[in-house]
Amino acid sequence: MSADLAQDLEQRIVAAVHAAYGIEITAKEAVIRPAQPGRPGDYQCNAAMPLAKRLGRPSPEVGAAIADRLDLTGLAGRPEVAGPGFLNIVFDAGYLGDHVAALAADEHLGVPRTEPRRVVVDYSSPNMAKEMHVGHLRSTIIGDALVRMLEAVGHEVVRQNHLGDWGTPFGMLVEHLVDEGWTGGGGHTVADLTAFYADARHKFDTDDAFADRSRKRVVALQAGDPTTLALWEELLDESKRHIEAVYELLDVRLTPDDYRGESSYNPRLDEVVADLQQRGLAVDSDGALCVFPPGFAGRDDEPLPLIIRKSGGGYGYDTTDLATLRYRTQELKADDIFYVVGAPQAMHFAMVFAAGREAGWVSDDSRIEHVPFGSVLGSDGRMLRTRAGATVKLTDLLTAAVDRAAAIVAERGQMDPQERAAVARAVGIGAVKYADLSSQREKDYTFDLDRMLAMEGNTAVYLQYAHARIRSMLHKADQTPDQTPASGTPVILDEPAERALALKLAQYPAAVTAAIEAVEPHRLCGYLYELAVLFSTFYQHCPVLTAPTAELRQSRLALSEHTARVLERALGLLGIEAPDRM
Ligand code: ARG
Repeated sequence: MSADLAQDLEQRIVAAVHAAYGIEITAKEAVIRPAQPGRPGDYQCNAAMPLAKRLGRPSPEVGAAIADRLDLTGLAGRPEVAGPGFLNIVFDAGYLGDHVAALAADEHLGVPRTEPRRVVVDYSSPNMAKEMHVGHLRSTIIGDALVRMLEAVGHEVVRQNHLGDWGTPFGMLVEHLVDEGWTGGGGHTVADLTAFYADARHKFDTDDAFADRSRKRVVALQAGDPTTLALWEELLDESKRHIEAVYELLDVRLTPDDYRGESSYNPRLDEVVADLQQRGLAVDSDGALCVFPPGFAGRDDEPLPLIIRKSGGGYGYDTTDLATLRYRTQELKADDIFYVVGAPQAMHFAMVFAAGREAGWVSDDSRIEHVPFGSVLGSDGRMLRTRAGATVKLTDLLTAAVDRAAAIVAERGQMDPQERAAVARAVGIGAVKYADLSSQREKDYTFDLDRMLAMEGNTAVYLQYAHARIRSMLHKADQTPDQTPASGTPVILDEPAERALALKLAQYPAAVTAAIEAVEPHRLCGYLYELAVLFSTFYQHCPVLTAPTAELRQSRLALSEHTARVLERALGLLGIEAPDRM
Protein backbone atom coordinates (compact mmCIF):
# COMPACT_ATOMS: atom_id res chain seq x y z
CA MET A 1 0.00 0.00 0.00
CA SER A 2 1.31 3.44 -0.84
CA ALA A 3 1.08 6.52 1.33
CA ASP A 4 -1.18 8.28 -1.11
CA LEU A 5 -4.65 6.96 -1.83
CA ALA A 6 -4.41 8.17 -5.42
CA GLN A 7 -1.36 6.01 -6.13
CA ASP A 8 -3.12 2.72 -5.51
CA LEU A 9 -5.89 3.81 -7.84
CA GLU A 10 -3.48 4.97 -10.51
CA GLN A 11 -1.89 1.55 -10.78
CA ARG A 12 -5.25 -0.11 -11.25
CA ILE A 13 -6.31 2.40 -13.91
CA VAL A 14 -3.03 1.96 -15.79
CA ALA A 15 -3.66 -1.79 -15.81
CA ALA A 16 -7.27 -1.35 -16.96
CA VAL A 17 -6.27 0.92 -19.85
CA HIS A 18 -3.69 -1.62 -20.88
CA ALA A 19 -6.25 -4.40 -20.76
CA ALA A 20 -8.80 -2.38 -22.74
CA TYR A 21 -6.62 -0.82 -25.41
CA GLY A 22 -3.19 -2.44 -25.17
CA ILE A 23 -1.49 0.88 -24.47
CA GLU A 24 0.71 2.00 -21.58
CA ILE A 25 -0.27 5.24 -19.88
CA THR A 26 1.66 6.89 -17.07
CA ALA A 27 0.33 7.18 -13.53
CA LYS A 28 -0.23 10.89 -14.16
CA GLU A 29 -2.33 10.10 -17.21
CA ALA A 30 -4.69 8.16 -14.99
CA VAL A 31 -5.82 11.65 -13.83
CA ILE A 32 -7.00 10.73 -10.34
CA ARG A 33 -8.48 13.61 -8.34
CA PRO A 34 -10.31 13.83 -5.03
CA ALA A 35 -14.00 14.41 -5.77
CA GLN A 36 -15.19 17.98 -5.32
CA PRO A 37 -17.25 18.48 -2.15
CA GLY A 38 -20.85 17.50 -2.79
CA ARG A 39 -19.95 15.37 -5.81
CA PRO A 40 -20.55 11.63 -5.70
CA GLY A 41 -17.66 9.35 -4.79
CA ASP A 42 -14.39 9.84 -2.98
CA TYR A 43 -12.14 10.14 -6.01
CA GLN A 44 -12.64 10.70 -9.68
CA CYS A 45 -10.71 9.24 -12.57
CA ASN A 46 -10.64 11.66 -15.50
CA ALA A 47 -8.47 9.58 -17.83
CA ALA A 48 -11.17 8.93 -20.41
CA MET A 49 -11.31 12.39 -21.96
CA PRO A 50 -7.67 12.76 -23.04
CA LEU A 51 -7.54 9.07 -23.99
CA ALA A 52 -10.63 9.46 -26.14
CA LYS A 53 -8.87 12.14 -28.15
CA ARG A 54 -5.82 9.99 -28.54
CA LEU A 55 -7.87 6.96 -29.63
CA GLY A 56 -10.39 8.88 -31.70
CA ARG A 57 -13.31 7.33 -29.78
CA PRO A 58 -16.19 8.98 -27.90
CA SER A 59 -15.14 9.61 -24.30
CA PRO A 60 -18.18 7.98 -22.60
CA GLU A 61 -17.31 4.81 -24.49
CA VAL A 62 -13.69 4.99 -23.33
CA GLY A 63 -14.82 5.62 -19.74
CA ALA A 64 -17.09 2.57 -19.89
CA ALA A 65 -14.32 0.43 -21.39
CA ILE A 66 -11.91 1.38 -18.60
CA ALA A 67 -14.59 0.70 -15.99
CA ASP A 68 -15.26 -2.74 -17.52
CA ARG A 69 -11.63 -3.78 -17.24
CA LEU A 70 -10.99 -2.08 -13.92
CA ASP A 71 -10.28 -4.41 -11.05
CA LEU A 72 -10.70 -2.54 -7.78
CA THR A 73 -10.93 -5.63 -5.61
CA GLY A 74 -9.98 -4.80 -2.06
CA LEU A 75 -9.99 -1.09 -2.79
CA ALA A 76 -13.37 0.12 -3.94
CA GLY A 77 -16.68 -0.94 -5.40
CA ARG A 78 -17.55 -0.92 -9.07
CA PRO A 79 -17.11 2.65 -10.31
CA GLU A 80 -19.99 4.63 -11.71
CA VAL A 81 -19.38 6.12 -15.16
CA ALA A 82 -20.76 9.63 -15.45
CA GLY A 83 -21.12 12.36 -18.08
CA PRO A 84 -18.29 12.40 -20.59
CA GLY A 85 -16.65 9.35 -19.05
CA PHE A 86 -15.68 10.27 -15.48
CA LEU A 87 -15.32 7.33 -13.15
CA ASN A 88 -16.64 8.00 -9.65
CA ILE A 89 -14.86 5.81 -7.15
CA VAL A 90 -16.04 4.99 -3.65
CA PHE A 91 -13.49 3.28 -1.43
CA ASP A 92 -14.41 0.24 0.62
CA ALA A 93 -14.70 1.22 4.27
CA GLY A 94 -12.34 -1.62 5.17
CA TYR A 95 -9.67 -0.47 2.77
CA LEU A 96 -9.96 3.16 3.89
CA GLY A 97 -9.87 2.15 7.55
CA ASP A 98 -6.74 0.02 7.07
CA HIS A 99 -5.12 2.75 5.05
CA VAL A 100 -5.71 5.35 7.76
CA ALA A 101 -4.55 2.98 10.48
CA ALA A 102 -1.31 2.43 8.57
CA LEU A 103 -0.77 6.18 8.15
CA ALA A 104 -1.30 6.71 11.86
CA ALA A 105 1.39 4.14 12.57
CA ASP A 106 3.88 5.95 10.33
CA GLU A 107 6.09 8.46 12.14
CA HIS A 108 5.55 11.02 9.35
CA LEU A 109 1.82 10.32 9.19
CA GLY A 110 2.31 9.15 5.64
CA VAL A 111 4.18 12.18 4.29
CA PRO A 112 6.66 10.60 1.87
CA ARG A 113 10.40 11.19 2.05
CA THR A 114 11.69 12.59 -1.22
CA GLU A 115 15.03 12.24 -2.94
CA PRO A 116 17.03 14.70 -0.79
CA ARG A 117 18.25 17.81 -2.54
CA ARG A 118 20.27 20.71 -1.27
CA VAL A 119 17.94 23.68 -1.33
CA VAL A 120 18.91 27.29 -0.66
CA VAL A 121 16.09 29.47 0.63
CA ASP A 122 16.73 33.23 0.50
CA TYR A 123 14.28 34.88 2.87
CA SER A 124 13.71 37.73 5.27
CA SER A 125 16.67 39.68 3.84
CA PRO A 126 15.87 43.08 5.39
CA ASN A 127 17.82 46.22 4.79
CA MET A 128 20.13 47.24 7.61
CA ALA A 129 19.86 50.53 9.41
CA LYS A 130 16.18 50.62 8.60
CA GLU A 131 13.37 49.13 10.60
CA MET A 132 12.08 45.93 9.00
CA HIS A 133 8.75 46.51 7.29
CA VAL A 134 5.77 44.30 6.50
CA GLY A 135 7.24 43.18 3.18
CA HIS A 136 10.07 41.59 5.14
CA LEU A 137 7.51 40.13 7.53
CA ARG A 138 5.89 38.26 4.64
CA SER A 139 9.24 37.05 3.35
CA THR A 140 10.21 35.90 6.83
CA ILE A 141 6.95 34.04 7.48
CA ILE A 142 6.66 32.38 4.06
CA GLY A 143 10.37 31.56 3.94
CA ASP A 144 10.31 30.01 7.38
CA ALA A 145 7.32 27.84 6.48
CA LEU A 146 9.00 26.78 3.25
CA VAL A 147 12.17 25.82 5.13
CA ARG A 148 10.21 23.74 7.63
CA MET A 149 8.22 21.96 4.91
CA LEU A 150 11.32 21.17 2.85
CA GLU A 151 13.17 19.83 5.87
CA ALA A 152 10.18 17.74 6.87
CA VAL A 153 10.33 15.75 3.63
CA GLY A 154 14.06 15.22 3.96
CA HIS A 155 15.73 17.99 1.99
CA GLU A 156 18.89 19.66 3.18
CA VAL A 157 18.05 23.33 3.49
CA VAL A 158 20.59 26.16 3.51
CA ARG A 159 18.98 29.32 4.83
CA GLN A 160 20.34 32.57 3.49
CA ASN A 161 19.46 35.93 4.94
CA HIS A 162 20.59 38.29 2.18
CA LEU A 163 20.84 41.38 4.35
CA GLY A 164 20.94 44.72 2.59
CA ASP A 165 24.14 45.88 4.28
CA TRP A 166 26.08 47.50 1.46
CA GLY A 167 25.84 50.29 -1.08
CA THR A 168 25.59 54.05 -1.25
CA PRO A 169 23.18 54.62 1.68
CA PHE A 170 25.91 53.47 4.03
CA GLY A 171 28.11 56.44 3.20
CA MET A 172 25.39 58.73 4.42
CA LEU A 173 24.59 56.57 7.43
CA VAL A 174 28.20 56.29 8.58
CA GLU A 175 28.71 60.02 8.17
CA HIS A 176 25.60 60.60 10.29
CA LEU A 177 27.07 58.30 12.96
CA VAL A 178 30.20 60.40 13.06
CA ASP A 179 28.08 63.51 13.58
CA GLU A 180 26.30 61.73 16.42
CA GLY A 181 29.58 61.07 18.17
CA TRP A 182 30.01 57.37 17.37
CA THR A 183 33.56 56.11 17.17
CA GLY A 184 33.12 52.53 16.03
CA GLY A 185 34.16 51.20 19.40
CA GLY A 186 30.70 50.04 20.42
CA GLY A 187 28.49 51.19 23.27
CA HIS A 188 26.02 53.12 21.14
CA THR A 189 22.43 52.26 20.49
CA VAL A 190 19.74 53.50 18.17
CA ALA A 191 16.30 53.42 19.76
CA ASP A 192 14.50 54.27 16.56
CA LEU A 193 16.18 53.09 13.40
CA THR A 194 13.54 54.57 11.16
CA ALA A 195 14.06 58.03 12.62
CA PHE A 196 17.83 57.55 12.42
CA TYR A 197 17.62 56.72 8.73
CA ALA A 198 15.22 59.58 8.05
CA ASP A 199 17.52 62.09 9.78
CA ALA A 200 20.50 60.97 7.72
CA ARG A 201 18.45 61.12 4.55
CA HIS A 202 17.18 64.62 5.39
CA LYS A 203 20.72 65.92 5.97
CA PHE A 204 21.86 64.29 2.74
CA ASP A 205 19.10 66.01 0.80
CA THR A 206 19.47 69.45 2.36
CA ASP A 207 23.13 69.83 3.31
CA ASP A 208 25.57 69.82 0.38
CA ALA A 209 28.66 69.52 2.55
CA PHE A 210 27.15 66.45 4.26
CA ALA A 211 26.24 64.92 0.91
CA ASP A 212 29.78 65.46 -0.21
CA ARG A 213 31.24 63.84 2.89
CA SER A 214 28.80 60.94 2.43
CA ARG A 215 30.00 60.25 -1.08
CA LYS A 216 33.62 60.26 0.06
CA ARG A 217 32.61 57.93 2.87
CA VAL A 218 31.22 55.39 0.40
CA VAL A 219 34.55 55.35 -1.36
CA ALA A 220 36.34 54.90 1.97
CA LEU A 221 33.97 52.06 2.89
CA GLN A 222 34.53 50.26 -0.39
CA ALA A 223 38.27 50.77 -0.08
CA GLY A 224 38.19 49.12 3.32
CA ASP A 225 39.22 52.09 5.45
CA PRO A 226 39.47 50.66 9.00
CA THR A 227 37.68 53.49 10.87
CA THR A 228 34.87 53.53 8.36
CA LEU A 229 34.52 49.76 8.55
CA ALA A 230 34.43 49.88 12.35
CA LEU A 231 31.63 52.45 12.28
CA TRP A 232 29.74 50.50 9.64
CA GLU A 233 30.06 47.30 11.66
CA GLU A 234 28.84 49.01 14.79
CA LEU A 235 25.77 50.16 12.92
CA LEU A 236 25.19 46.65 11.56
CA ASP A 237 25.47 45.14 15.02
CA GLU A 238 22.87 47.55 16.26
CA SER A 239 20.57 46.78 13.31
CA LYS A 240 20.97 43.07 13.87
CA ARG A 241 19.81 43.47 17.46
CA HIS A 242 16.62 44.97 16.07
CA ILE A 243 15.95 42.22 13.57
CA GLU A 244 16.85 39.51 16.07
CA ALA A 245 14.20 40.87 18.42
CA VAL A 246 11.67 40.36 15.64
CA TYR A 247 12.92 36.85 14.84
CA GLU A 248 12.75 35.93 18.49
CA LEU A 249 9.18 37.16 18.80
CA LEU A 250 8.22 35.43 15.57
CA ASP A 251 9.94 32.17 16.48
CA VAL A 252 11.56 31.71 13.08
CA ARG A 253 14.52 29.50 12.31
CA LEU A 254 16.96 32.21 11.32
CA THR A 255 20.20 32.63 13.20
CA PRO A 256 23.35 34.72 12.70
CA ASP A 257 24.87 31.69 10.95
CA ASP A 258 22.39 32.25 8.16
CA TYR A 259 23.36 35.87 7.57
CA ARG A 260 25.08 36.42 4.29
CA GLY A 261 24.60 40.04 3.46
CA GLU A 262 25.28 41.85 0.23
CA SER A 263 28.61 43.03 1.66
CA SER A 264 29.92 39.48 1.83
CA TYR A 265 29.89 39.33 -1.98
CA ASN A 266 31.91 42.51 -2.33
CA PRO A 267 35.29 40.75 -2.59
CA ARG A 268 33.96 38.53 -5.40
CA LEU A 269 32.44 41.13 -7.67
CA ASP A 270 35.57 41.72 -9.78
CA GLU A 271 35.85 38.00 -10.33
CA VAL A 272 32.21 37.63 -11.34
CA VAL A 273 32.50 40.46 -13.83
CA ALA A 274 35.68 38.90 -15.23
CA ASP A 275 33.90 35.56 -15.53
CA LEU A 276 31.04 37.16 -17.49
CA GLN A 277 33.54 38.98 -19.71
CA GLN A 278 35.43 35.80 -20.39
CA ARG A 279 32.25 34.07 -21.46
CA GLY A 280 31.61 36.91 -23.85
CA LEU A 281 28.44 37.97 -22.11
CA ALA A 282 29.51 41.42 -20.95
CA VAL A 283 28.84 44.28 -23.34
CA ASP A 284 29.96 47.87 -23.09
CA SER A 285 26.98 50.23 -23.17
CA ASP A 286 27.41 53.99 -22.70
CA GLY A 287 30.43 53.46 -20.50
CA ALA A 288 28.69 50.90 -18.31
CA LEU A 289 29.31 47.19 -18.54
CA CYS A 290 26.10 45.23 -19.12
CA VAL A 291 24.74 41.76 -19.65
CA PHE A 292 21.69 41.43 -21.90
CA PRO A 293 19.99 38.17 -21.00
CA PRO A 294 17.95 36.82 -23.91
CA GLY A 295 14.21 37.42 -23.95
CA PHE A 296 14.00 40.68 -22.04
CA ALA A 297 12.95 43.76 -23.92
CA GLY A 298 11.70 47.17 -22.91
CA ARG A 299 8.92 49.24 -24.40
CA ASP A 300 10.63 49.96 -27.72
CA ASP A 301 11.74 46.35 -28.07
CA GLU A 302 15.16 47.41 -26.89
CA PRO A 303 16.94 44.63 -25.02
CA LEU A 304 17.06 45.23 -21.26
CA PRO A 305 20.39 45.17 -19.45
CA LEU A 306 21.66 44.01 -16.12
CA ILE A 307 24.25 46.60 -15.20
CA ILE A 308 27.27 44.73 -13.94
CA ARG A 309 29.61 47.71 -13.64
CA LYS A 310 28.41 51.29 -13.56
CA SER A 311 30.12 53.89 -15.71
CA GLY A 312 31.84 55.25 -12.60
CA GLY A 313 33.23 51.78 -11.87
CA GLY A 314 30.91 50.90 -8.98
CA TYR A 315 28.86 47.77 -8.52
CA GLY A 316 25.17 47.58 -7.61
CA TYR A 317 22.30 45.22 -6.75
CA ASP A 318 22.47 43.41 -10.12
CA THR A 319 26.13 42.48 -9.82
CA THR A 320 25.66 41.39 -6.23
CA ASP A 321 22.79 39.09 -7.17
CA LEU A 322 24.83 37.58 -10.01
CA ALA A 323 27.66 36.93 -7.56
CA THR A 324 25.13 35.48 -5.14
CA LEU A 325 23.71 33.08 -7.72
CA ARG A 326 27.18 31.98 -8.69
CA TYR A 327 28.14 31.43 -5.05
CA ARG A 328 25.01 29.45 -4.30
CA THR A 329 25.30 27.15 -7.29
CA GLN A 330 29.10 26.79 -7.45
CA GLU A 331 30.16 26.91 -3.81
CA LEU A 332 27.10 26.04 -1.75
CA LYS A 333 26.33 23.47 -4.46
CA ALA A 334 22.63 24.18 -4.30
CA ASP A 335 20.42 21.90 -6.36
CA ASP A 336 17.51 24.30 -6.07
CA ILE A 337 17.17 27.90 -4.92
CA PHE A 338 14.07 29.78 -3.81
CA TYR A 339 14.11 33.56 -3.46
CA VAL A 340 11.23 34.64 -1.23
CA VAL A 341 11.01 38.30 -2.21
CA GLY A 342 8.11 40.66 -3.02
CA ALA A 343 6.52 40.61 -6.45
CA PRO A 344 7.97 43.97 -7.61
CA GLN A 345 11.39 42.33 -8.00
CA ALA A 346 10.11 39.67 -10.44
CA MET A 347 11.84 41.19 -13.47
CA HIS A 348 15.14 41.59 -11.66
CA PHE A 349 15.23 37.93 -10.69
CA ALA A 350 14.03 36.65 -14.05
CA MET A 351 16.93 38.51 -15.65
CA VAL A 352 19.50 37.38 -13.08
CA PHE A 353 18.42 33.74 -13.47
CA ALA A 354 18.52 33.96 -17.26
CA ALA A 355 22.01 35.46 -17.14
CA GLY A 356 23.14 32.79 -14.68
CA ARG A 357 21.88 30.03 -16.96
CA GLU A 358 23.60 31.63 -19.92
CA ALA A 359 26.81 31.80 -17.93
CA GLY A 360 26.53 28.08 -17.26
CA TRP A 361 26.26 28.42 -13.47
CA VAL A 362 22.92 26.66 -13.25
CA SER A 363 22.39 23.01 -14.10
CA ASP A 364 19.40 22.16 -16.25
CA ASP A 365 17.47 20.23 -13.64
CA SER A 366 17.78 22.95 -11.01
CA ARG A 367 14.73 24.80 -9.81
CA ILE A 368 15.88 28.39 -9.45
CA GLU A 369 12.77 30.36 -8.62
CA HIS A 370 11.57 33.68 -7.42
CA VAL A 371 8.76 33.08 -4.92
CA PRO A 372 6.89 36.39 -5.14
CA PHE A 373 4.22 37.61 -2.77
CA GLY A 374 1.71 40.45 -2.67
CA SER A 375 1.49 43.43 -0.34
CA VAL A 376 0.03 43.79 3.12
CA LEU A 377 -2.73 46.38 3.09
CA GLY A 378 -4.23 48.51 5.84
CA SER A 379 -7.98 48.74 6.49
CA ASP A 380 -8.11 51.58 3.95
CA GLY A 381 -7.07 49.18 1.20
CA ARG A 382 -3.71 50.92 0.74
CA MET A 383 -0.23 49.77 1.72
CA LEU A 384 -0.10 49.32 5.46
CA ARG A 385 1.07 52.55 7.16
CA THR A 386 0.72 54.14 10.56
CA ARG A 387 -1.77 56.94 10.93
CA ALA A 388 1.08 59.39 10.55
CA GLY A 389 1.92 57.73 7.23
CA ALA A 390 5.14 56.06 8.37
CA THR A 391 5.98 52.40 7.80
CA VAL A 392 4.57 50.22 10.56
CA LYS A 393 7.13 48.70 12.88
CA LEU A 394 6.97 44.95 13.01
CA THR A 395 7.53 44.75 16.74
CA ASP A 396 4.51 47.01 17.29
CA LEU A 397 2.39 44.92 14.99
CA LEU A 398 3.38 41.63 16.61
CA THR A 399 3.08 42.94 20.14
CA ALA A 400 -0.42 44.19 19.39
CA ALA A 401 -1.37 40.73 18.14
CA VAL A 402 -0.02 39.03 21.26
CA ASP A 403 -1.79 41.55 23.53
CA ARG A 404 -5.07 40.99 21.75
CA ALA A 405 -4.60 37.23 21.99
CA ALA A 406 -3.85 37.54 25.72
CA ALA A 407 -7.24 39.17 26.25
CA ILE A 408 -8.99 36.31 24.42
CA VAL A 409 -7.07 33.64 26.29
CA ALA A 410 -7.73 35.27 29.67
CA GLU A 411 -11.47 35.09 29.03
CA ARG A 412 -11.36 31.39 28.39
CA GLY A 413 -8.95 29.04 30.06
CA GLN A 414 -7.95 28.58 33.65
CA MET A 415 -4.19 28.68 33.46
CA ASP A 416 -1.40 30.04 35.57
CA PRO A 417 0.11 33.31 34.33
CA GLN A 418 3.14 31.67 32.77
CA GLU A 419 1.18 29.19 30.71
CA ARG A 420 -1.30 31.88 29.79
CA ALA A 421 1.50 34.10 28.47
CA ALA A 422 2.91 31.24 26.41
CA VAL A 423 -0.51 30.45 24.96
CA ALA A 424 -1.17 34.13 24.22
CA ARG A 425 2.04 34.27 22.30
CA ALA A 426 1.28 31.08 20.37
CA VAL A 427 -2.15 32.44 19.50
CA GLY A 428 -1.10 36.00 18.66
CA ILE A 429 1.94 35.11 16.57
CA GLY A 430 0.11 32.13 15.09
CA ALA A 431 -2.72 34.43 14.02
CA VAL A 432 -0.39 36.77 12.16
CA LYS A 433 1.54 33.95 10.49
CA TYR A 434 -1.53 31.96 9.54
CA ALA A 435 -3.35 34.96 8.07
CA ASP A 436 -0.35 35.48 5.84
CA LEU A 437 0.18 31.84 4.89
CA SER A 438 -3.48 31.07 4.29
CA SER A 439 -3.92 33.81 1.71
CA GLN A 440 -2.94 33.10 -1.85
CA ARG A 441 0.70 34.05 -1.88
CA GLU A 442 0.70 36.41 -4.83
CA LYS A 443 -2.38 38.32 -3.73
CA ASP A 444 -2.46 41.31 -1.41
CA TYR A 445 -4.20 40.88 1.92
CA THR A 446 -5.53 43.20 4.58
CA PHE A 447 -3.91 43.22 7.99
CA ASP A 448 -6.91 42.92 10.26
CA LEU A 449 -6.35 41.62 13.78
CA ASP A 450 -10.07 41.02 14.39
CA ARG A 451 -10.30 38.68 11.44
CA MET A 452 -6.93 37.06 12.18
CA LEU A 453 -8.04 36.23 15.71
CA ALA A 454 -11.59 35.13 14.90
CA MET A 455 -12.69 31.95 16.66
CA GLU A 456 -14.61 30.74 13.62
CA GLY A 457 -13.37 30.43 10.08
CA ASN A 458 -10.03 29.61 8.55
CA THR A 459 -7.82 31.05 11.31
CA ALA A 460 -4.96 29.71 13.39
CA VAL A 461 -6.89 30.05 16.63
CA TYR A 462 -9.76 27.97 15.26
CA LEU A 463 -7.30 25.19 14.47
CA GLN A 464 -5.44 25.63 17.76
CA TYR A 465 -8.70 25.28 19.70
CA ALA A 466 -9.70 22.27 17.64
CA HIS A 467 -6.38 20.68 18.51
CA ALA A 468 -6.53 21.58 22.22
CA ARG A 469 -10.09 20.28 22.50
CA ILE A 470 -9.07 16.91 21.07
CA ARG A 471 -6.09 16.76 23.40
CA SER A 472 -8.27 17.44 26.37
CA MET A 473 -10.67 14.71 25.32
CA LEU A 474 -7.79 12.29 24.83
CA HIS A 475 -6.51 13.28 28.21
CA LYS A 476 -9.86 12.30 29.67
CA ALA A 477 -9.59 9.01 27.85
CA ASP A 478 -6.31 8.52 29.66
CA GLN A 479 -4.19 8.75 26.59
CA THR A 480 -0.87 10.49 26.48
CA PRO A 481 -0.16 12.61 23.43
CA ASP A 482 2.98 10.83 22.31
CA GLN A 483 1.67 7.36 22.55
CA THR A 484 0.28 6.04 19.34
CA PRO A 485 -2.69 4.00 20.39
CA ALA A 486 -3.71 4.37 16.79
CA SER A 487 -1.12 1.96 15.52
CA GLY A 488 -2.72 -1.43 15.27
CA THR A 489 -6.10 -0.13 16.35
CA PRO A 490 -8.59 -1.23 13.69
CA VAL A 491 -10.42 1.78 12.31
CA ILE A 492 -14.13 1.23 11.85
CA LEU A 493 -15.89 3.49 9.37
CA ASP A 494 -19.62 2.95 9.56
CA GLU A 495 -20.91 6.49 10.03
CA PRO A 496 -20.66 8.96 7.11
CA ALA A 497 -18.99 11.50 9.41
CA GLU A 498 -16.23 9.13 10.47
CA ARG A 499 -15.74 8.01 6.92
CA ALA A 500 -15.40 11.62 5.74
CA LEU A 501 -12.90 12.34 8.50
CA ALA A 502 -10.84 9.27 7.62
CA LEU A 503 -10.75 10.20 3.94
CA LYS A 504 -9.49 13.67 4.85
CA LEU A 505 -6.80 12.24 7.13
CA ALA A 506 -5.67 10.04 4.27
CA GLN A 507 -5.16 13.16 2.16
CA TYR A 508 -2.67 14.79 4.51
CA PRO A 509 0.43 13.54 2.64
CA ALA A 510 -0.92 14.88 -0.66
CA ALA A 511 -1.69 18.25 0.95
CA VAL A 512 1.90 18.61 2.19
CA THR A 513 3.33 17.54 -1.15
CA ALA A 514 1.13 19.98 -3.06
CA ALA A 515 2.05 22.88 -0.76
CA ILE A 516 5.77 22.21 -1.27
CA GLU A 517 5.56 21.56 -4.98
CA ALA A 518 3.87 24.89 -5.71
CA VAL A 519 5.42 26.73 -2.74
CA GLU A 520 1.86 27.49 -1.70
CA PRO A 521 1.39 27.11 2.03
CA HIS A 522 -2.23 28.19 1.65
CA ARG A 523 -2.98 24.75 0.22
CA LEU A 524 -1.95 23.17 3.49
CA CYS A 525 -3.98 25.79 5.42
CA GLY A 526 -7.08 25.05 3.35
CA TYR A 527 -6.60 21.36 4.01
CA LEU A 528 -6.28 21.89 7.77
CA TYR A 529 -9.41 23.98 7.92
CA GLU A 530 -11.40 21.30 6.08
CA LEU A 531 -9.98 18.69 8.41
CA ALA A 532 -10.95 20.65 11.53
CA VAL A 533 -14.47 21.24 10.20
CA LEU A 534 -14.89 17.53 9.42
CA PHE A 535 -13.62 16.65 12.85
CA SER A 536 -16.19 18.87 14.46
CA THR A 537 -18.99 17.20 12.45
CA PHE A 538 -17.59 13.81 13.41
CA TYR A 539 -17.49 14.82 17.06
CA GLN A 540 -21.11 15.97 16.93
CA HIS A 541 -22.40 12.79 15.34
CA CYS A 542 -20.11 10.11 16.70
CA PRO A 543 -19.77 9.85 20.48
CA VAL A 544 -16.18 8.99 21.27
CA LEU A 545 -15.80 8.48 25.01
CA THR A 546 -19.30 7.09 25.21
CA ALA A 547 -19.21 5.07 22.00
CA PRO A 548 -21.60 2.08 21.99
CA THR A 549 -18.85 -0.57 21.89
CA ALA A 550 -15.28 -0.81 23.16
CA GLU A 551 -14.00 -1.39 19.59
CA LEU A 552 -15.77 1.68 18.34
CA ARG A 553 -14.45 3.73 21.23
CA GLN A 554 -10.91 2.67 20.40
CA SER A 555 -11.41 3.34 16.71
CA ARG A 556 -12.82 6.81 17.33
CA LEU A 557 -10.09 7.63 19.81
CA ALA A 558 -7.58 6.62 17.16
CA LEU A 559 -9.22 8.91 14.59
CA SER A 560 -9.26 11.75 17.12
CA GLU A 561 -5.66 11.28 18.06
CA HIS A 562 -4.66 11.06 14.41
CA THR A 563 -6.49 14.34 13.75
CA ALA A 564 -4.74 16.05 16.67
CA ARG A 565 -1.37 14.87 15.43
CA VAL A 566 -2.00 16.07 11.89
CA LEU A 567 -3.10 19.47 13.19
CA GLU A 568 -0.09 19.82 15.45
CA ARG A 569 2.39 18.55 12.87
CA ALA A 570 1.03 20.65 10.03
CA LEU A 571 0.81 23.82 12.11
CA GLY A 572 4.43 23.07 13.03
CA LEU A 573 5.30 22.97 9.33
CA LEU A 574 3.84 26.45 9.08
CA GLY A 575 5.85 27.62 12.09
CA ILE A 576 2.80 27.78 14.35
CA GLU A 577 2.55 26.26 17.80
CA ALA A 578 -0.34 24.09 18.90
CA PRO A 579 -0.62 24.26 22.70
CA ASP A 580 -2.13 21.21 24.38
CA ARG A 581 -4.35 23.33 26.61
CA MET A 582 -6.07 26.59 25.86
N1 ARG B 1 17.09 43.49 0.75
C1 ARG B 1 16.22 43.34 -0.38
C2 ARG B 1 14.98 44.21 -0.20
O1 ARG B 1 14.60 44.52 0.90
C3 ARG B 1 15.77 41.90 -0.57
C4 ARG B 1 16.86 40.95 -0.93
C5 ARG B 1 16.34 39.72 -1.55
N2 ARG B 1 17.36 38.76 -1.95
C6 ARG B 1 18.18 38.92 -2.98
N3 ARG B 1 19.04 37.94 -3.24
N4 ARG B 1 18.17 39.98 -3.74
O2 ARG B 1 14.36 44.55 -1.20
